Amino acid sequence: MIADPSGSLAADAVPARTQVLIIGGGPAGLLLSQLLHRAGVDNVVLERRSRAYVLSRIRAGVLEQGTVDLLRQAGVGARMDRKGLLHGGVEISFRERRLRIDLAGLTGGRSVMVYGQTEVTADLYAARDAMGGTILHEVEDVALHDLESASPFATFTLGGETQRINCDFIAGCDGFHGVSRRSIPEDRLKLFELVYPFGWLGILADVPPVSDELIYASHEKGFALCSMRSPTRSRYYIQCPLDEEPGNWSDDRFWEALAAHLPADVAARLVTGPSIEKSIAPLRSFVAEPMRHGRLFLAGDAAHIVPPTGAKGLNLAASDVHYLSQGLIAHYAAGDDLALERYSDRALARVWKAERFSWWMTSTLHSFPDAGEFGARMQQAEFDYLATSRTAQAAFAENYVGLPY
Ligand code: APR
Ligand code: PHB
Repeated sequence: MIADPSGSLAADAVPARTQVLIIGGGPAGLLLSQLLHRAGVDNVVLERRSRAYVLSRIRAGVLEQGTVDLLRQAGVGARMDRKGLLHGGVEISFRERRLRIDLAGLTGGRSVMVYGQTEVTADLYAARDAMGGTILHEVEDVALHDLESASPFATFTLGGETQRINCDFIAGCDGFHGVSRRSIPEDRLKLFELVYPFGWLGILADVPPVSDELIYASHEKGFALCSMRSPTRSRYYIQCPLDEEPGNWSDDRFWEALAAHLPADVAARLVTGPSIEKSIAPLRSFVAEPMRHGRLFLAGDAAHIVPPTGAKGLNLAASDVHYLSQGLIAHYAAGDDLALERYSDRALARVWKAERFSWWMTSTLHSFPDAGEFGARMQQAEFDYLATSRTAQAAFAENYVGLPY
């Protein structure tokens, strides 16, 4: 289905039926669409925003080994393998002390790939276009119906016209604010949430990164992260109050604050320059259980949110899609529904472990207004244990590179 230049289909080209209807064209929805199409499962993606808007989102960029393998399996690994940065280690600094975690050495050679989520999304779009995938952009008023029947459907508006698509299954990949989770009766869902009393102020700048590997820095003044997108583009974050405004931060003020959050020898090497993006992200841990309601399956941010400290957001979306695509493909290829039946439990088992790791990193490395002296000593002791125990470092490494699927 060839779409118009903006990648959208005209209202009169909307298919009346598909096998799997995917709500949301972010990384979860596009990856699922690609994997299903390659396995011969027909699917349509409904996306509320324009393609340009989806591609303009600045998000994180650390891919677990499992995500890298899944993107290669989906046929979208070539540019990642050419341009991505393979990292066999990561640094944690606590006040002036610096600790390198030998990820590869502690996990039998597993590593992470630094490659922006924006790039992953662009690669997925290119692959969908190449296969003639059906993505409807700028759809409005999406509503899901008959989820507990064998033939659910969605209605929506496109180009001012009301549309309906019938299907066998609906994949809710529409993020935290999407319609899918909200389509599940409240008494059928259990929600778990923890909102942290701070946010992250982040900038993107075309300056060489301060370090070849990521640095997660804990300082009396708060948390800071030194990351990158390429050898010439850096991504930095500092902990900030929740009610902070990016507009209150000149570049100079940001660089000064960042340097003050880092060990002196790291700060001394910082190359500064004009920011090309500046934004604030709140920190929250959130899980919705179960991740299935009838013929609706939730995946990615629609079902769970992690604070960015563990770099697990995109990677959890990928593991959900791994389990869900396996289930849907087995259903169509062999009439075997075991994997679909087990989807919610399998996905949630991995989600909760990543929630734990992200919560632990956030709790250990940020400064909490009400932690008190005992809380501060606990953080110190967490770092001391990590710095002096190879077992603790191995546990950290296994979680950071990604627990097995
Ligand atoms: N109808 C159609 N599309 C919708 C609707 C709706 N009602 N509501 C939201 N969407 C779209 C959004 O515009 C977005 O493009 O669903 C998509 C959801 O994408 P993401 O929020 O990126 O979620 P997901 O694909 O699960 O990816 C998770 O994204 O936010 C990061 O840290 C997160 O890295 C993680 C990754
Ligand atoms: C990023 O590069 O934006 C990034 C990296 C690691 C994180 C969070 C964000 O934990």
